[in-house]
Amino acid sequence: MRIEIPRECERIGSLQIYGLQKVYELDAGEGIHGQDTVIERIPSEVLYDRMREMAIVVPVKNERLKLIEGVLVGIPSPCQVIVVSNSPRGPVDRFNLEKEALENYGKFTGKKIMVVHQKDPGLAKAFVDAGYTELIDEQGLVRSGKAEGMIVGTLMAKWLGKKYLGFVDSDNYFPGAVLEYVYEYAAGFAMNGSTNTFVRISWHSKPKIMESSLFFAKWGRSSVNSNMMLNRLLTHFSGFETEIVKTGNAGEHALSVDLALKLEYAAGYAVETHHFINLLEKYGGIIEPDDPKALQEKITICQIESRNPHMHESKGDDHVEDMIDASLSVIYHSPLCPELLKREIMENVRQRRGEESPEEIAPVRMYPSLSKLDLDTFLAGCDEALNFGATTIRA
Ligand code: GDD
Ligand code: MG
Repeated sequence: MRIEIPRECERIGSLQIYGLQKVYELDAGEGIHGQDTVIERIPSEVLYDRMREMAIVVPVKNERLKLIEGVLVGIPSPCQVIVVSNSPRGPVDRFNLEKEALENYGKFTGKKIMVVHQKDPGLAKAFVDAGYTELIDEQGLVRSGKAEGMIVGTLMAKWLGKKYLGFVDSDNYFPGAVLEYVYEYAAGFAMNGSTNTFVRISWHSKPKIMESSLFFAKWGRSSVNSNMMLNRLLTHFSGFETEIVKTGNAGEHALSVDLALKLEYAAGYAVETHHFINLLEKYGGIIEPDDPKALQEKITICQIESRNPHMHESKGDDHVEDMIDASLSVIYHSPLCPELLKREIMENVRQRRGEESPEEIAPVRMYPSLSKLDLDTFLAGCDEALNFGATTIRA
């Protein structure tokens, strides 16, 4: 892969946020890893080395089997795949259909695929035994939601001994785009240190039909709002206006498993924006950190612009509005958020929601950092319940 080095960087405490980096060549062949002025060439074997240590988590809820299979087709073979599904078990057992389709697909490819159901009782027990009860609902099972599925995936990656963790949504129409995201995750880790790097993808474009022609939109509604407010927040602290954040709510992202275990998770679709906020809270040096040693570590957010168009299932306007509210809520309720920005966020909510707008945007559920979970107990619980009743593994 050939990728430009970052042009800009915002430094806040021990967190550095790099500006968007363009990809110049998806596959630059084998050979020497090095920089030629502003372009870094990362040979394929270096990317593969990272992928061998990487798990790709694919969250699934009620997606079409053809789409899920297409996503798996795009994941390069050195990676371990972890599918975390929250699809219904009845009246039609959708999860069983997914499992059968994936097992069949696995026969043809020999791919390393682990499939787990979010509502598996064995999994819930492992969380309870490890003292992480926040994730458990009234039925004694893991709560629903994308973030909740991501937490499960993160711990499965740890259990399988992986060093890196990437996420790709299961409703992507283009296997080639998925392949590219994973290459970019590997490139981000190869260009930066391995332990404290967070790679986030900004899609180059999203194809739409407008007046019977194809139109390649650059920004989705949700990212426009979350990027704008995150940039306002950074501007508030630096005193210099910035537009550096382009991936505030990027669903396609990767980070080291160690870093993933240190961060808080906001429920559902607020998760990505909250990761940004939580990095600022923990490493920005703005508020008293829980762990003062954290400020000695260097954390890098690396934002890469992908080249393939991104096309996924359309889930409707209400869904997008809810996602925007969830993203803005985590910014609003952060102790970092100044009064002025709170007012702007509420103005934004009122403009979008009109009369339905609440006095104050509701907080979303927060899950503490996974450092709170007794990892040894959890992993022992996984060993014991490896079969989780509903899990298949090929690690
Ligand atoms: N395991 C699990 N559990 N997966 C879920 C759940 C759940 O409860 N809910 C949704 N998913 C899966 C979906 O099947 C899909 O693969 C992925 O999570 C993303 O859900 P979508 O409903 O397709 O989200 P989106 O496309 O509107 O939003 C995506 O992009 C945003 C940025 O524009 C998501 O990745 C967002 O998190 C992201 O902020
Ligand atoms: Mg989607």
